[in-house]
Amino acid sequence: MNILVTGGAGYIGSHTCVALLEAGYSVIVADNLCNSKVETIDKVKQITKKDILFYQIDVTEEDAVDKIFSNHDINGVIHFAGLKAVGESIEKPLTYYYNNLVSTMVLAKACQKHNVKRLVFSSSATVYGDNIVPFVETMNLLPTTNPYGETKAMSERILTDIAKANPAFSVSLLRYFNPVGAHESGLIGEAPNGIPNNLMPYVTQVAKGKREKLSVFGNDYPTVDGTGVRDYIHVVDLAVGHVAALDNITEGVHVYNLGTGQGTSVLELIQAFEDANSVEVSYEVVNRRPGDIASCYADASKAERELGWTAKRDILAMCRDAWRFEKNYEE
Ligand code: NAD
Ligand code: UD1
Repeated sequence: MNILVTGGAGYIGSHTCVALLEAGYSVIVADNLCNSKVETIDKVKQITKKDILFYQIDVTEEDAVDKIFSNHDINGVIHFAGLKAVGESIEKPLTYYYNNLVSTMVLAKACQKHNVKRLVFSSSATVYGDNIVPFVETMNLLPTTNPYGETKAMSERILTDIAKANPAFSVSLLRYFNPVGAHESGLIGEAPNGIPNNLMPYVTQVAKGKREKLSVFGNDYPTVDGTGVRDYIHVVDLAVGHVAALDNITEGVHVYNLGTGQGTSVLELIQAFEDANSVEVSYEVVNRRPGDIASCYADASKAERELGWTAKRDILAMCRDAWRFEKNYEE
């Protein structure tokens, strides 16, 4: 089975390529490398000792995408390619709407033209907005606070309508909670450009001495210790979740939360990181970050019931693996 993985050189995509190759799938990656490096593809080959076909293309370009579908007998698509920086999406909304929506439509069109019946899409827990936790797939979606989040909600709607009109088309919408950690080899992981927006990469850079201290955004939320609570999920568990989604895909549209179901506060995560790695993480509490919600964690039971998938790695493993990658990583 040939799987086209868009954005396969990126953080979640590269780990998913490993999981797919280990499960016996053949992988074709399409990535324009706007937020990743081609060396990551070599690292995936090194980990799995298997080959990958790589196309450096922009998936908003219809002709380039069409060529891949013409050259290969593709059995399924996993669409990771997208821009994901929340703050940047507020500054450059058109760039975000164009990249994230056009890529989704170009791929859906190529699937229809070439009779490819399976598509798995990277969505986000951000589409739940400020619903009451735990988030369940049946909840009404609430507006997000930024264009990035809106591109996820809109892509979900576009793919849902396409699948409704084409009953043989199977779409799996995967709502990720907070992916962290790295492959246990330490060869691939999350390497954001510039100042990290997300908590775990900031923590690893403080531990490495690259940044002085972490700013904890608010300690007056209605949570266990006042700091924000999130459902951190090991990126390898998330990657395995994609294989489960592909293996169990059925006609129509199916939505799955991919999370652990467990909430961890910012202070709990700092403590876990220090315990797991015997390093200190300096921090200070500052004002809340605009647009943040107090708590976000999954009801992860549907993926267990229907896909037979649950997250296996705990917060200590996430912290250990994130730190191993950061220590090894050279820019
Ligand atoms: P990433 O930036 O590491 O990976 C995305 C990859 O897509 C990059 O390699 C980038 O070069 C590529 N890309 C972007 N636009 C492209 C285009 N037009 N054509 C070809 N390649 C393109 O991000 P990630 O964390 O691996 O996220 C993967 C997907 O999961 C994204 O769609 C993201 O929005 C979604 N997601 C991520 C998170 C998270 O916390 N990391 C959470 C929820 C959802
Ligand atoms: C952020 C995005 C969300 C996106 C998700 C995964 C915002 C408002 N939301 O969510 O749309 O889907 O990343 O990419 O940006 N924190 C600190 N200090 C930091 C960084 C974070 O205290 O330097 C706190 C946050 O306030 C939050 C928690 O750590 O409580 C997790 O933050 P983060 O990793 O940015 O993820 P989300 O806020 O869940």
